[in-house]
Amino acid sequence: MNIELIMAKENAFSLKFDTDWQYAPAPESSDHVEIKARYDLFIGGKFVQPNSKKYFNSINPATEAIVCEIAEANEQDVDDAVKAARKAFPAWTKIGGKERGKYLFRIARLIQERAREFSVIESIDGGKPIRESRDIDIPLAAAHFFYYAGWADKLEYAFPNRKVEPLGVAGQIIPWNFPLLMAAWKIAPALACGNCVVLKPAETTSVTAMKLAELIKDAGLPDGVVNIVTGAGKTGAAIVNHKDVNKIAFTGSTQVGKSIQKSIAGTGKKTTLELGGKAANIIFEDAPIDQAVEGVINGIFFNQGHVCCAGSRLFVQESVKDEVIQKLKIRLETLILGDPMDKNTDIGAINSKEQLKTITDYIKIGEQEGFEKFQANVAIPKKGYFCAPTLFLDVAQSSRLAQEEIFGPVLAIQTFRTVDEAIEKANNTPYGLSAGVWTDKGSKAFNMAAQLKAGVIWANTFNKFDPTSPFGGFKESGFGREGGMHGLAAYLKVS
Ligand code: NAI
Ligand code: MG
Repeated sequence: MNIELIMAKENAFSLKFDTDWQYAPAPESSDHVEIKARYDLFIGGKFVQPNSKKYFNSINPATEAIVCEIAEANEQDVDDAVKAARKAFPAWTKIGGKERGKYLFRIARLIQERAREFSVIESIDGGKPIRESRDIDIPLAAAHFFYYAGWADKLEYAFPNRKVEPLGVAGQIIPWNFPLLMAAWKIAPALACGNCVVLKPAETTSVTAMKLAELIKDAGLPDGVVNIVTGAGKTGAAIVNHKDVNKIAFTGSTQVGKSIQKSIAGTGKKTTLELGGKAANIIFEDAPIDQAVEGVINGIFFNQGHVCCAGSRLFVQESVKDEVIQKLKIRLETLILGDPMDKNTDIGAINSKEQLKTITDYIKIGEQEGFEKFQANVAIPKKGYFCAPTLFLDVAQSSRLAQEEIFGPVLAIQTFRTVDEAIEKANNTPYGLSAGVWTDKGSKAFNMAAQLKAGVIWANTFNKFDPTSPFGGFKESGFGREGGMHGLAAYLKVS
C-alpha cells in the first residue's frame, strides 16, 4: 500500500448517497481500498498478461507518484478480447433480458458496496476532488447500471411493434475525465440490449476500470461478456479497425472522433461519437444573479473543467455585467485548490502533464491577445499538475479562447444586449453539446432552448446529469445519444 492510501484512510469522509439517483438504500460501503502493483488485461473472464509483456505507469497527477503498472494491449490482445466477446455473445443474448437485468442489478449493487474504494481510487488516479468522486461519479455510475437493468426485459416496450436485436460485439473507448462513470455509460446499455463488449479506458485513468473488471468477475457475469483492455491510442485504433466488431462507441476529442469516423467508413459498423464542446452559459438581466454565479462556477470549475459539456463560455447581458463579474471574482477567491483527497477541495489536479500544457498554452494565447485576465490568488502546490481558476474578460468572438475546447478551469467571458445577439453568439462555434440559460422567465428559457443548437440545455442549473436523460451533441460534438431510452437505440438493430 502506498502513502496516499494511508492518508486517504485517515481522511475519514462519510459516504452518503442522498442524490436523485438513489435507486435503493445504499448499503454501508466497505473501508477496504486496494490498488495492486500491476494490472493485467481482463479477457474472457480472466486476468491475462499482455502478449508484449509491456506495462506502463499510471501516475497520481496530484503528487506525480506512480500509482501502479497497467498492461499495454496490442492488436493480438485486442483480437483475443474480441474473440472472447464473440464467443460469449450467443449465450448472453439467449438468456434473455430478465436474466441480463439481474446481472446488471448485481453490478450496480456491488458498485454501491465498494463506493468508498472506487471514490478513493478515482481521485488518486485521476486527480478529481474526492467530494466529486464520492457524490457524483461513483453513485451515478451505479445509477446507470440500475437504470439499464430496468430496461433489459422491456426492450420491446421501448420500440413498440418493432423487432429489436442486439448488434453483437461493441468496441468502447472512453476518456479520462469521468473514468468509471464513462465505463458505466458504455457497458450498462450495451449489456442490457444483449451485446458483449470490449472496453478500453484512457491510459491515464485505467485503475477503476480494472477494479470494475474485478467486480464484474465477483458478480458472476458469464466469461467474455465484458472484456477490458488497457493501452493508449494504438490499442484504441486496434479496436476500431478490428473486423469482427459491430459497433464503436467513443467519447473523447473531436480530432480522434473524426479519425475514427474515417477509418470505419464503409465497414457497416454502427457508431456513436461523444466529442468536445464549448458550451455557452447565458445570464439574462432578469436572472437570480447569485444562483447564476454559483451555476457558472459549477459549470466551468467542476472536475477542473475537464468536462465535455463544461460551461466554458459565459455570456452576460450588459446591464448586469458589472455585478456578475464582481461576484464571480469574489467567489473565485473562495475556491479551495489542492489535494484531491481533502474533502474540502473544490479544484483538484489537472489530469496529466500534457493536459496542463494544453491549458497553460491557451492561457498564454489569452494574454497575448490582450484580454483582461483574472486568476484566483491561490497557492499552487509544488508537486503535481495544478492550474489556478482563470477568467478572461471581454473575449473576442473570433479568439481561440472563445472557439476551441480548452478542457481546463478557464472561462471566456463575453457580453450581449439582445436575445438574438445571445443566440447568434452562442451558436457561433463548431460545437453543439450543451448550453445553460439563466432567467426568471420560463418563456425565455423555452425560446432559448428551441434556438440554441446544443444537445443538452439546462435552465437555471448546469452540469446536472441523470441516467434517464439522453446526452449527446450536434455538429462537431458528435452524434448519437447515450442515457435514457434513446441510449438503447445505439445498441440495437431496430427493424
Ligand atoms: P483522446 O481523444 O486522444 O483520448 C480519448 C480516448 O481515445 C483515450 O482512451 C485514448 O486512448 C483513445 N484514443 C486516442 N487515439 C485514438 C485512436 N487513434 N483510435 C482510437 N482511440 C484513440 O483525448 P486526449 O488526447 O486525452 O485529450 C485531448 C483533448 O481532447 C482534450 O484537451 C480535450 O479537449 C478533448 N477531450 C474531450 C473529451 C470529452 O469528453 N469530450 C474527453 C477527453 C479529451
Ligand atoms: Mg493516473
